[in-house]
Amino acid sequence: MVDEALDLAARLAAARRLLAPCRSTDAQERSCLPGPAREASLDPVGLYREHLQPRLLNATLGTSAATVVRRRVCAGLVGEVLEIGYGSGLNQPHLPAGVRRVLAVDPSATGFRLSARRRAASPVPVLVVGGDAQALPVPDDHVDAVLSTWNLCAVADPAAALREVRRVLRPGGLFHFVEHGLAPDDEVVRRQRRCNAVNKGLTGCVLDRDVRALLDGSGLQVLALSTYYAEGAPKPAGYFYEGRARA
Ligand SMILES: C[S@@+](CC[C@H](N)C(=O)[O-])C[C@H]1O[C@@H](n2cnc3c(N)ncnc32)[C@H](O)[C@@H]1O
Repeated sequence: MVDEALDLAARLAAARRLLAPCRSTDAQERSCLPGPAREASLDPVGLYREHLQPRLLNATLGTSAATVVRRRVCAGLVGEVLEIGYGSGLNQPHLPAGVRRVLAVDPSATGFRLSARRRAASPVPVLVVGGDAQALPVPDDHVDAVLSTWNLCAVADPAAALREVRRVLRPGGLFHFVEHGLAPDDEVVRRQRRCNAVNKGLTGCVLDRDVRALLDGSGLQVLALSTYYAEGAPKPAGYFYEGRARA
């Protein structure tokens, strides 16, 4: 009887936590995020995606070479910054002092949990606002900057994500980005196309996104763009597009 009452109390408490409205900054453990930000999948592919893939990304994108790029991409960010593909918060330590708050968008609850220590060590509060860069739950002309590091490869419709970036940026606001994508060499492109399906399954990323064409079609004004093979990275995943664009 006592056990049953305790069990019922525990279930009620869990239900209350699940139904509670989202609170800001660190209080989020994402139980009330929309759409794909869920954890209950029991199929092996779902389990891999939710639990292993974010850990794999956290490890492979946390290298010192990636850190150098992150510092460059985050330099100059100010005010209210929306980050699409927040992942495990690997950009958090590189946010300049002028950043007031980060609005985070990512479907992975595990990725967000992996960011806990980085958030705790950072003076910049993080508010999770959604799980899909293609449909940002943010008003028009709202943020000072948008940050994206290796995110367009993971979004099903990157053109839609860039339309959203433009919509939510205040006029003159800046998009800071580094993406990997379509290489300039035919042989590398052939390898990108051969590896696309396997890579998508393993990392969630498409290898041959034409980032230049996507930017040109986005309505954003490209202010700076460097394209290069990242040192030490396998060429099919290592052709980077790094720069700034203005709304
Ligand atoms: C290659 S990882 C990069 C993570 C992070 N930006 C970084 O630099 O470490 C791609 C990220 O995109 C996220 N993602 C996948 N689909 C997405 C979507 N529709 N909207 C926003 N993010 C998405 C994944 O969960 C993952 O965290």
